[in-house]
Amino acid sequence: MARKKFIAGNWKMNTTLEEAKALARGVVDAVGNISDVDIAVCPPYTNLSAVYEIIKDSNVKLGAQDVHWEAKGAFTGKVSCAMLKSVGVTYVIIGHSEQRQYFGETDATVNKKVKAARGSGLLPIICVGETLEERKSGKMDAVIERQVRGAFDGLSTEDALKCTIAYEPVWAIGTGETATPEQANDAHVFIRGIISKMFSDETAGAIRIQYGGSMKPDNAKELLSKNDVDGGLIGGASLKAADFAGIVKPV
Ligand code: PGA
Repeated sequence: MARKKFIAGNWKMNTTLEEAKALARGVVDAVGNISDVDIAVCPPYTNLSAVYEIIKDSNVKLGAQDVHWEAKGAFTGKVSCAMLKSVGVTYVIIGHSEQRQYFGETDATVNKKVKAARGSGLLPIICVGETLEERKSGKMDAVIERQVRGAFDGLSTEDALKCTIAYEPVWAIGTGETATPEQANDAHVFIRGIISKMFSDETAGAIRIQYGGSMKPDNAKELLSKNDVDGGLIGGASLKAADFAGIVKPV
């Protein structure tokens, strides 16, 4: 089955309101009318509304960087799915390695967030990936399998199909070091195999798997040419509209 490529920008903890508006305008100008690739930008919570106003009439969709699984209540600092929906959010990044590393995200909390997101119609972008130490010590497959199984545990096939997986080797994030296209593709094939075991070959064939980790205009084309690489989750290079555009439409 042909999978449509999906490029998403993860702005992380960058952009004040004015910076976000300028970046969103730049993205819309550069790629807003492209329809053969799915495109999303994921600004910080504080800029979601303003960015939505700028992108809403274009093909660029809005994503958030995290969400809390509870619907409402005394959870200081947290944001719910309904709140995200109410400001125009379509996608939500869940289980980013920075969340796992610094903020106590576990496979169990990832699973709760994925279920909450699906319950309210949001489209999860689920991040998985090994550290350098895990790769070197031969634990990579076990780690990725645990993360994928944890995230998708108890999901219906219908909900699983609404998820995107982002394979982001931790050693490649923000380091300038990129997985080779072969390393990325091998990991994606492995992940697809897990989805196949959990759901079916058909589901595994339909689900999109993005690569993330120092993807840039000059390496995107080669990565995206691989059979199992269905897009990218872009950090650093998504903060410049021209670089992001160079990944969406590599020359
Ligand atoms: P990077 O980040 O492109 O800056 O490596 C990717 C990510 O963390 O999603």
